[in-house]
Amino acid sequence: MPNNWYEWHDLYNSDARLQQRLQIVREYIWSAIDASPPGIIRVVSACAGDGRDLLGTLASHPRKSDVHGRLVELNPELAQQGRDKIESAGLSQQLEFVNGDATNSSSYIGAVPADIIIVCGIFGNLASEAELKRLIGNLPKLAKKGSFAIWTRGHTDGIAHSETVRKVFRDTEFKEVNFQLTLTGDMGVGIHRYLGQGLPLPQNQQLFVFSGVPDKYKSATLA
Ligand SMILES: C[S@@+](CC[C@H](N)C(=O)[O-])C[C@H]1O[C@@H](n2cnc3c(N)ncnc32)[C@H](O)[C@@H]1O
Repeated sequence: MPNNWYEWHDLYNSDARLQQRLQIVREYIWSAIDASPPGIIRVVSACAGDGRDLLGTLASHPRKSDVHGRLVELNPELAQQGRDKIESAGLSQQLEFVNGDATNSSSYIGAVPADIIIVCGIFGNLASEAELKRLIGNLPKLAKKGSFAIWTRGHTDGIAHSETVRKVFRDTEFKEVNFQLTLTGDMGVGIHRYLGQGLPLPQNQQLFVFSGVPDKYKSATLA
């Protein structure tokens, strides 16, 4: 079991569910970029890890030079790895990897409204459905009409938590564009499109509490 979020990323080398989840997330990022109008595409990624979802997609996407954005990650080693990848991909002028608190609204100042909001590996690390509702309810502060939100949610003990996420989204101005389970059948990945007008981004507001810990993860409980 991983002792920290840096070690947690090693699971990508062995865990089929996490590998399949990454593949679907990249497909959704790819399609969201494809669906964006010509010009700059703004992306934010909260709790970004080492950014492999976005950066892996951009490696071969023909519109990679249009994608500007900010990835926010608390673990300094992961953030540094992400920065190194950005630099070696030649994307330093358009992407910044911030070592900071993704739960605080101020981390997004200057980077939103975003066309694509990546919230992967977060929903399974919230304490309750009320906290999930709070986070999804705060997404319009990062969004504008037409923004995409891409998310993941693992199932535990046969409970299809991703259905709860889809249900919460149904009561909002986000419309489901696509949803898939991994072939392993116990990890949901979704992409929603925001139909509202967006909300102003407040300063220094807690958008959600990330309360998960990495050592709870055996291969059966991935976020
Ligand atoms: C389950 S991992 C997901 C990483 C990445 N999004 C992915 O899907 O591969 C959760 C990540 O959230 C980060 N994290 C936890 N609390 C955070 C916070 N308050 N602000 C930014 N990142 C945070 C962890 O360090 C960890 O890298």
